Amino acid sequence: MIERRLRLIGIGPGGPDDLTVTAVNALNSVDVFLVADKARGVDDLVSVREEICRRHIVGDYRVLTVPDPPRDRTPERYGAEVRDWHAARAAVYEKVLCEEVSGDETAGLLVWGDPSLYDSTIRVAERIRDRGLLRIDYDVVPGVSSVQILAARHKLVLNTIGGPITITTGRRLVEHADTGADNLVVMLDGHLTCRGLDGDWNIWWGADLGTADEELVAGRLHAVLPEIEQARARAKAARGWVMDTYLLRRARPGPFTAGSAADVVADRWGTC
Ligand SMILES: C[S@@+](CC[C@H](N)C(=O)[O-])C[C@H]1O[C@@H](n2cnc3c(N)ncnc32)[C@H](O)[C@@H]1O
Repeated sequence: MIERRLRLIGIGPGGPDDLTVTAVNALNSVDVFLVADKARGVDDLVSVREEICRRHIVGDYRVLTVPDPPRDRTPERYGAEVRDWHAARAAVYEKVLCEEVSGDETAGLLVWGDPSLYDSTIRVAERIRDRGLLRIDYDVVPGVSSVQILAARHKLVLNTIGGPITITTGRRLVEHADTGADNLVVMLDGHLTCRGLDGDWNIWWGADLGTADEELVAGRLHAVLPEIEQARARAKAARGWVMDTYLLRRARPGPFTAGSAADVVADRWGTC
């Protein structure tokens, strides 16, 4: 059986220094990086990755562009469609690993943020393994996720004391809020779905976190939405792309408090 070594390396969400030392060491152990061709449509995202490699890698490495299979984005097929896409990606990566990487090289994939959060790279590696042609020895190097940068910028603890946190997508936000979730991190929401939520909520929002064009807004949701919309438009204009993440928490009576201290008071009163 053909054997290949593959490292899935979390590189943080855009800031060239938002990587762990372990990730930097992992980057330096890679001979050949496999980069999905779809990224070429967003030149700035490519240049962020290139800058990270330039800044942190000492020595030579190769970059192989891997064609990304097209995705059928029919909403009714979401799930089945994502699984088909992972299978197609696995086949393409398997081919490149067999034909363009040698057995004594280490291949690497640069994973945006952390590989454990809304990212398909681990699933694709499992698919390659399960196809059975290659014996791949792969490991996962954690990265700083956009959620961690969001919390740090707003000086927040994500959970209320002893309380749960729901991490979800814009697509599922309303459903979770309707069934009682009251402390949520929302990712993959290009439409600010929170606009449609009923009731009083606080929001801590951030876009293009870690980059020089980072934007932050916090406050009562419906009061700060216009400010968020403007900040989102600015971030998009600055880089040609915008990625935003936000924490939503049901508001308690009284004025908005920026940090986590308000929860401590609420817990003492037994209201959390
Ligand atoms: C496909 S997911 C990848 C998440 C990534 N694995 C992580 O750990 O942050 C993309 C979503 O992550 C969030 N995201 C990624 N980079 C971001 C950034 N620099 N600033 C704000 N949100 C970001 C956004 O919600 C975006 O829609």
